[in-house]
Amino acid sequence: MILRWCVTLFLFINYWPAALAAIQYSPEKKVWVLQAGETTYAMGVNERGELQSIYWGPRVAREADFSTPRGRPEVASFDSSTSTTPQEYPGWGAELYNEPALKATYADGNRDVVLHFVDSHTEGDTLEVQLKDIASDLQVHLYYRVFEDTGIIQRWSRIENRTNQAIILESAQSAAWSLPPGEGYGWHYLTGQWGAEWQLHSEPLQTGAHVIESRRGSTSHQSNPWFAIDRPAQTTEESGPVWFGALGWSGSWRITVEQTAMRQVRVTGGFNPFDFGYRLKPGEQLETPPFYGGFTGKGRGEASRILHRFERIHILPGGENARLRPVLYNSWEATEFRVSEEGQLALAEKASKLGVERFVIDDGWFGQRKDDHAGLGDWYVNQEKFPHGLKPVIDRAHALGMDFGIWVEPEMVNPDSDLYRKHPDWAMNFPGRPRTEARNQLLLNLARADVKEYVFNWLDQLVSNNDIAFLKWDYNRNWSEPGWDAVPVEEQKKIYVTYVRNLYDILDRLRAKHPKLEIESCSGGGGRVDLGILKRTDEVWASDNTDALDRLTLQDGFTQAYTPGIMMAWVTDVPSGIDHRVVPLKFRFLVAMSGSLGLGGNLNKYSPDDLQAAARYVAFYKRIRPAVQRGALYRLIAPEDSESSATEYVSSDGRQAVLFAYLHSQQFGTPFPTVFLRGLDEDALYKVEAIDPGQVQEVGTVSGGYLMHHGIDLDLHSDYDSTSVLFEKQP
Ligand code: GLA
Repeated sequence: MILRWCVTLFLFINYWPAALAAIQYSPEKKVWVLQAGETTYAMGVNERGELQSIYWGPRVAREADFSTPRGRPEVASFDSSTSTTPQEYPGWGAELYNEPALKATYADGNRDVVLHFVDSHTEGDTLEVQLKDIASDLQVHLYYRVFEDTGIIQRWSRIENRTNQAIILESAQSAAWSLPPGEGYGWHYLTGQWGAEWQLHSEPLQTGAHVIESRRGSTSHQSNPWFAIDRPAQTTEESGPVWFGALGWSGSWRITVEQTAMRQVRVTGGFNPFDFGYRLKPGEQLETPPFYGGFTGKGRGEASRILHRFERIHILPGGENARLRPVLYNSWEATEFRVSEEGQLALAEKASKLGVERFVIDDGWFGQRKDDHAGLGDWYVNQEKFPHGLKPVIDRAHALGMDFGIWVEPEMVNPDSDLYRKHPDWAMNFPGRPRTEARNQLLLNLARADVKEYVFNWLDQLVSNNDIAFLKWDYNRNWSEPGWDAVPVEEQKKIYVTYVRNLYDILDRLRAKHPKLEIESCSGGGGRVDLGILKRTDEVWASDNTDALDRLTLQDGFTQAYTPGIMMAWVTDVPSGIDHRVVPLKFRFLVAMSGSLGLGGNLNKYSPDDLQAAARYVAFYKRIRPAVQRGALYRLIAPEDSESSATEYVSSDGRQAVLFAYLHSQQFGTPFPTVFLRGLDEDALYKVEAIDPGQVQEVGTVSGGYLMHHGIDLDLHSDYDSTSVLFEKQP
């Protein structure tokens, strides 16, 4: 008994600090140490009173090792201490030449902002550090929320005008992150365009400021707010240091990765300062978007897995208890705007026989929508296409065992619409200037309270009056002429913030009122995917490009930053719309099954063999879906590097692993490379089952050690051959 008590006390004393004290503060030293997952983050107040970064990297358990930082000395009169000292949140003032976190203009013309430490306090898992300008009551509150389970630190700031005159903020960043000074860094980022999002770039980090951004009012296809920095000489997919981060903002954003001549490396991100000018009246404040950062010593694969886990637990609605993504059918690529009650009913019958769980009507069901020239804004059911309303299709979908979803594009208006004829002033524009159309549409200015209420109300009515389980929320253009003449001139640039906050507000209210409603974020493909929209949507449409070969690269880029379970992926018809490529049905299915499976082809054209195969693939997907949607993703062979590619997913309970392998094109009869699995239990036995018998040599059960070290050989031949292999851990 006494022994047991002693053991308990020993464990308590030893584990108490790590478990409870994620945020440590030493008031004597004015040093904070944040312990999160495998990571330690430290900062302190230097002799001038600035909040200075000390450390971000692998866990250093002994907090006492961190001492009060000292500002870096002036190296030459051209390299001031203000610039060379890594501040946590530098104001543009004194002699700062690097990227500022805050730039402001006071009413009297003063533009000097120098922020010094005032106070701090910790509440639960969040530290708040208060800074203040040395000569005015411009205050900045910095927040650090520590996620022990993943090591992610969420940072954001709140800027408060406590002076008695207005202050204009020209740049308001969420955070500046400092990496250990030195050379030999590489950085990774994602760019793209419509139909070709998620292109991964990996480059050595050179001296200078490198900017990824969107000036488009939304997240954009062109660049995504995610970065990873590693040390290419040490870092691989499976080992070595990686610092990474992502912004939670669906408006114009910017991330600046800077390496100075003195080999200091900083990452600053938040609202895009371009055309920014947020006016704070006395007493007003502005909160910046969350900027999430993480570190791992286990390579780029682990950096992605940490982010995926973090998104599933802390970002996505429902958290870990969110339901698995259902298999859906959507007829967009089959019918485009030619939707009708009869046509949709016929497709619903066919879809349900394949095991589809959700039936979705895409664009074309509302207003006078015959093509993309008219109708956006008029959200009543088109009587010619659906003479009895939506009810017959919804009821039939339910009777067939599917729930029902529908496409909407709430932020847009066609000039050819009743809404625009009634409220031309609701469109985003500068009065008296041209209104540039894209896809024949204009943006509704969601920053306006009346527009926001209108949009919320019709969506609420649509969902209240019809049994709708799912909205595909589209957004098919970027901003232009971002005017907001309903408010005084000096307030008009607030549109960049207010629009997005109002969008979030609509989504939040809709979800609160309809707790079972699920939403997909779509923007002509993957134009609005970020950790801000993901807090309020359950899945995303990653790209309008559904060509199975292109998808492999797109999906590889997407899953660098985002969890595969939210990546809606359709099996569509061939030749593909974008590349006119003809790829076998199985390959198309297996590519889509490595995300959230959807069927997007014309089922009326499927042969009996195709229908039979499709039903078999859907059934297989349902068996592996927990591993794909909630497991750990291992990128075994990247699609960019070879004629083949392979990914593996290990379920969170470790009982199932699933491999997808694709032979893009075979040359010289070269066999498919041996595939070495990862993340298995060395000693456990796994039952091996290929989706089609004969595609793996191993039969019966083999050990995890064998699968990871000997690997397995796949019998794949010719162009576009593919397989999926399931490994079930034996009890
Ligand atoms: C966007 C979407 C497509 C489809 C069309 C409908 O392009 O990305 O999936 O919904 O709009 O107009």
